[in-house]
Amino acid sequence: MQEQLNQIEADALASLKNVENLADLESLRIKYFGRKGAFTALMKGMGALSQEERPIVGKHANTVRTRLTDAFDRLAETLARQERQQKLALEKIDITLPGRRPTIGKKHPVTQSLERIQVIFRGMGFQVAEGPEIEHEYYNFDALNTPQDHPARDLHDTLYITDSQLLRTHTSPVQVRVMEKQQPPVRIIVPGKAYRRDYDISHTPMFHQVEGLLVDYRVTFSELKGVLHSFARQMFGEGTRVRFRPHFFPFTEPSAEVDISCTVCGGKGCRTCSWTGWLEILGAGSVDPNVFSYVNYDPNQVTGFAFGMGVDRIAMLRFGIPDLRLLFENDMRFLRQF
Ligand code: PHE
Repeated sequence: MQEQLNQIEADALASLKNVENLADLESLRIKYFGRKGAFTALMKGMGALSQEERPIVGKHANTVRTRLTDAFDRLAETLARQERQQKLALEKIDITLPGRRPTIGKKHPVTQSLERIQVIFRGMGFQVAEGPEIEHEYYNFDALNTPQDHPARDLHDTLYITDSQLLRTHTSPVQVRVMEKQQPPVRIIVPGKAYRRDYDISHTPMFHQVEGLLVDYRVTFSELKGVLHSFARQMFGEGTRVRFRPHFFPFTEPSAEVDISCTVCGGKGCRTCSWTGWLEILGAGSVDPNVFSYVNYDPNQVTGFAFGMGVDRIAMLRFGIPDLRLLFENDMRFLRQF
């Protein structure tokens, strides 16, 4: 038995010399010390030894086990160190390589314009309200004094989802939604997307509007003029002139289309303003009393004004963009310029 022990030790030490990694070392450990290992098996035979032999063999066995375990542990440490160093060498970072330049994003010209518009109206005491883009016919048309058979419905090229649900053709339905919930005074602007079946150099099926609504006791048309004058000067510069042209909207009476003096030629006449000196930027008017009756406001008590502007058009004018469609193609070469 002593000889067998010596044999195991010699074999094991010889095998250790060929071990190259921790996985092999573990297999070797199992081969000798595992449940079915050679050393373990030998120890099971101890019971058959005589009283005198057992302590002697036992002592020898302990010595062999200790020597082998030490040898295994020392090798394990060495291998672990080697493997760690190999890994580090592989993962070494070459700090002399040039870094990757982070791309810095920019705000879309429409977002920039939207934000500017909101800052200006907040400064005049307006609050921001929002409403759904999928809208009920009732809010988009009926409650805005535009009944089923009203010719103005055709003008809108509405995109319907069901018989009575549609993609809102303007942000005006939010006027109604806010007035339903809130008693006067109301002073809101509504930035948002609107949709119409339209596509050419100055129309896209999705576009942005900012609606404005002010309702209070004794509000007059001249206050509408004051607010829009102030807005135009802050948005397009001090020298900007504003003109109101009579127009029609079902939900305002009287109504107007509002022009600003051309931002390119200052009013002398150029290609941008089609040689008129003026650029149309919004529709506006005094709230039609019929709209008030839809939201249970007393038309004899309150008056108000509303306006709606095309944000994409305003962005085009501010940045000198020639084709509206460019705004929605997401071409980085275009967008990086703003
Ligand atoms: N909603 C109108 C449009 O989209 C604009 C408008 C808003 C006109 C409010 C008057 C008052 O054309």
